[in-house]
Amino acid sequence: MSKSVPRLEIRNLRRAFDGRPVVDDVSLRVMPGSVTCLLGPSGCGKSTTLRMIAGVEMQDTGEIYVDGKLICDTVFRIPPERRHIGLMFQDFALFPHLSVADNVAFGLKGAREEKRARVEELLREVGLARFIDSFPHELSGGEQQRVALSRALAPRPRIMLMDEPFSGLDNRLRDEIRDLTLDVLKQEDAAVLLVTHEPEEAMRMADEIALMRAGRIVQQGAPYNIYNAPVDKEAVAFFSDINVIRGKVQGALTDTPFGQFLAPGVPDGQAVEIVIRPQHLKIDFDRGGRGPDPTPQDGVPARGVVERARFMGSESLVEFRMDHDGSVLKATVPNVFLPSPGKALWLTIRRDRCFVFPVVE
Ligand SMILES: Nc1ncnc2c1ncn2[C@@H]1O[C@H](COP(=O)(O)OP(=O)(O)O)[C@@H](O)[C@H]1O
Ligand SMILES: [Mg+2]
Repeated sequence: MSKSVPRLEIRNLRRAFDGRPVVDDVSLRVMPGSVTCLLGPSGCGKSTTLRMIAGVEMQDTGEIYVDGKLICDTVFRIPPERRHIGLMFQDFALFPHLSVADNVAFGLKGAREEKRARVEELLREVGLARFIDSFPHELSGGEQQRVALSRALAPRPRIMLMDEPFSGLDNRLRDEIRDLTLDVLKQEDAAVLLVTHEPEEAMRMADEIALMRAGRIVQQGAPYNIYNAPVDKEAVAFFSDINVIRGKVQGALTDTPFGQFLAPGVPDGQAVEIVIRPQHLKIDFDRGGRGPDPTPQDGVPARGVVERARFMGSESLVEFRMDHDGSVLKATVPNVFLPSPGKALWLTIRRDRCFVFPVVE
């Protein structure tokens, strides 16, 4: 099978409940050995999409292909148990009365020794070989999760669907399990579609992120591109706090207290929002009321007064009340920087890190 044929492809999937579209024209491709994250807020239709691929929910329209072959449209439908799709959900519920070995072997067919060998292989991969004859209640949450992963992978599914599988784990454990899961999934060469509402999880796990909102995929690409070339203000805001500065376009430029910003292709008179993440505002000193000199990279400085400064661990968050319009802007800086409230400082905006979007009324 050529590497260029997607392991999983969905085309134009739609599903409405009571006349309300919940999944609205969703198309996706997932290659073997790669992880695609379906990322979006709660209720945007992620689980419904996954359930249609698994075959436990029927789409209204659209098709699903595995290795280029149709497995489901509105007429033809391969039942869930014959799709060779692995599933893993948050409440993964191991069988309490079965040993770890029997849990992992649950979906396996074939000779005893073969099954045992596969179980041993998987438990080695997830670092649980020593627990092969233990029972679920003897394992920690993280260990149980690894057993569940082994169970889902045991029959060598060509596709693995994971729905918020890590949300039941505590933070520290979660990072470790995410990395391990990723290693094992790559080793098994499955195509993975992972659903999450957490941007950090998607950034950490995904080769490709499909950003979903209100039933639609609004942007798709590598994590770096999604973060650094977002399609709209909401896409920026999904990954971090944002600052928004409003302006109007004249001659493909918009004038602001921070200087001019390029707005290529935007018609005259159009209102725009300049969106900037707190880590891309630069703070500078007052210099007796003059502030720093303008530069092409950082534009014109604008003065503000510190409202609040908080230490967040690896960075400090400083909120400013701006002189020019009384708006509040947030800036983060690495390490400890805790200026007193009332102190005047100057802010500049890095041109290469801001996003200019037309305002859609
Ligand atoms: N069987 C169903 N009947 C009616 N509404 C449903 C059903 N399943 C999901 N929904 C609705 O569809 C929307 C999307 O749900 P879901 O796919 O679970 O979102 P997500 O997984 O992104 O949180 C929600 O508003 C949910 O209430
Ligand atoms: Mg869900």
